[in-house]
Amino acid sequence: ETKPRIPVLWLHGLECTCCSESFIRSAHPLVKDVVLSMISLDYDDTIMAAAGHQAEAILDEIRHEYKGRYIAAVEGNPPLNEDGMYCIIGGRPFVEQLREVCSDAMAVISWGSCASWGCVQAAKPNPTRATPVHEVITGKPIIKVPGCPPIAEVMTGVVTYMLTFDRIPELDRQGRPKMFYSQRIHDKCYRRPHFDAGQFVEQWDDEQAQKGYCLYKMGCKGPTTYNACSTTRWNAGVSFPIQSGHGCIGCSEDGFWDNGSFYDRL
Ligand code: SF4
Ligand code: SF4
Ligand code: F3S
Repeated sequence: ETKPRIPVLWLHGLECTCCSESFIRSAHPLVKDVVLSMISLDYDDTIMAAAGHQAEAILDEIRHEYKGRYIAAVEGNPPLNEDGMYCIIGGRPFVEQLREVCSDAMAVISWGSCASWGCVQAAKPNPTRATPVHEVITGKPIIKVPGCPPIAEVMTGVVTYMLTFDRIPELDRQGRPKMFYSQRIHDKCYRRPHFDAGQFVEQWDDEQAQKGYCLYKMGCKGPTTYNACSTTRWNAGVSFPIQSGHGCIGCSEDGFWDNGSFYDRL
């Protein structure tokens, strides 16, 4: 309670903003506790009250006053073609803002599959050259929190860990926090007994679908997707895509948008 709130500068590049939509729905901890008691969300051009020059001035202020002591949280990614002209923030290419803010940060969080991997705007032929954050920013610890969007409690869990222990969480080879991305959806899926028994849905709304059988033959990517959906679930633990009747499309995996995730049958 006596700890000063750590400044967070939340940037937005090419994205759909649903990572923010997910974040504000965190139930454990409640996002109001994160924003009002744990962090100081000094810049977030999507939801902040300030606008224009006032908003941009805050970036410079925090960068200089808290050099090396703030978190750069990045949603979306920079498009590099045409000198970055496909994403302009405050009259400048987003990639310039990204480089400046990250250069003085203690750590960078790449929210979602846009920042972590490129996501749908990087789909072939990637006309804007949308590029994941780690290919632009070097020399800083980068924590990838992939998912389209990531689970709310995974997002706030990463922030809580960093504030509580004053260090970044342990990461896997790809830069994801092991505590949330070390298991496949398939490892803890409640439909797994049906997979093991060879009981599969063969068509949408067939009798097997009504019985809740495994969705593997309908293209479920759970066996190759690392995320916490089958354990943490969504909407404060209520459900997740497979529980809603649709297979996992592997939205937290690199390249899912080009790898036949969308309505392909195996
Ligand atoms: Fe939207 Fe997905 Fe990108 Fe998040 S990762 S901003 S949910 S497109
Ligand atoms: Fe695995 Fe998907 Fe079947 Fe679940 S529904 S058991 S994740 S293949
Ligand atoms: Fe995404 Fe699969 Fe979870 S589609 S939300 S990783 S179940």
